[in-house]
Amino acid sequence: MKADRICNFNAGPAALPLPVLEEIQRSFLNLAGSGMSITEISHRSKWFDDVINDAVTRIKRILALDDRYHVLFLQGGASMQFCMVPMNLLGAGDSADYVNTGTWSTKAIKEASIQGKSVNVVASSEDRNFAYIPQSIAFDANAVFAHITSNNTIKGTQWARFPDTGGVPIVADMSSDIFSRPLPMEKFGLIYAGAQKNMGPAGVCLVIIRDDLLARTPGDIPTMLRYTTYAEKNSMYNTPPCFAVYTVQLVLKWLEESIGGLDQMADVNRKKAGLLYDYMDQSDFYRGTADKDSRSLMNVTFRLPSEELEKAFVADALDNGLGGLKGHRSVGGCRASIYNPTPLSAVEALLDFMKTFERRKG
Ligand SMILES: Cc1ncc(COP(=O)(O)O)c(C=O)c1O
Repeated sequence: MKADRICNFNAGPAALPLPVLEEIQRSFLNLAGSGMSITEISHRSKWFDDVINDAVTRIKRILALDDRYHVLFLQGGASMQFCMVPMNLLGAGDSADYVNTGTWSTKAIKEASIQGKSVNVVASSEDRNFAYIPQSIAFDANAVFAHITSNNTIKGTQWARFPDTGGVPIVADMSSDIFSRPLPMEKFGLIYAGAQKNMGPAGVCLVIIRDDLLARTPGDIPTMLRYTTYAEKNSMYNTPPCFAVYTVQLVLKWLEESIGGLDQMADVNRKKAGLLYDYMDQSDFYRGTADKDSRSLMNVTFRLPSEELEKAFVADALDNGLGGLKGHRSVGGCRASIYNPTPLSAVEALLDFMKTFERRKG
């Protein structure tokens, strides 16, 4: 067992801010003077009302959402949204555009297609193993929505600027970069994000949906799969994942009160990723896998000269208190996930280790 906490570069579930974990620890047996743990409290209580209402208020404030947007908490992860988005938004005769930028987009397309929905894949970066974000895409002006994955957790690419869809609302899977930078909300009709990377523990998925898309929800799909069910009941039609929502609330509080909001968070994120990419760019030993203009500020993916060296790198790093650096099993290589909660000091420690490892083995 490790005596101390490590620098955690896991892709998700991922690091949480230490002050948030400490607050959970302090309040775990007695939340807000209730004499109960958050895991023991009714979701119909005043205490949980305070938690969920504060989380919603903070999300609206952080993203500067106007009254047209509804903030919902669902279960089933981001993967459930792959099916719910087309089920709720596409009726007979409707179609949607999808951009395929990797594993998660591919799954989103599959879940829409197996429902028999009309899906147009208007761009894809599969031709070069998803190493880039496609540009100059011709979107269909009649599409109900245009779906993108804003950050590709496995391939290490991210949309630096959101595409011009000619007014068609963007639906974005932001599971791995929500709250990492300010958003031009006027472009988005729906955003979804599993919590377990930038926002909290696994078990809750955030959905932000605009009125005009919410109005498309049909009445003849199962209750638990309808966005209106959650919008009408403040996400409490049934028992919500109370502990996960509570942790999200604390992470949002940390983001507002300790970091200062999205502009400040984006500055820190640029700095963290810049340290790693700048070093890789001048090294012959480490090679980034994503095109420069498509690089993710959240998941830095890279290769070493051989798979043997990659194995040694991941193992040695862990011995040095740096965990979670193995690439996704489907692509291999190495990946440093540096979401909001990962402090600059952890990235500096990783950079030092990369330099030492290169000196020893390069
Ligand atoms: C971009 C993206 N979308 C979707 C998912 C799937 O999320 P979940 O496990 O919450 O269903 C992931 C998981 O890593 C992801 O990175």
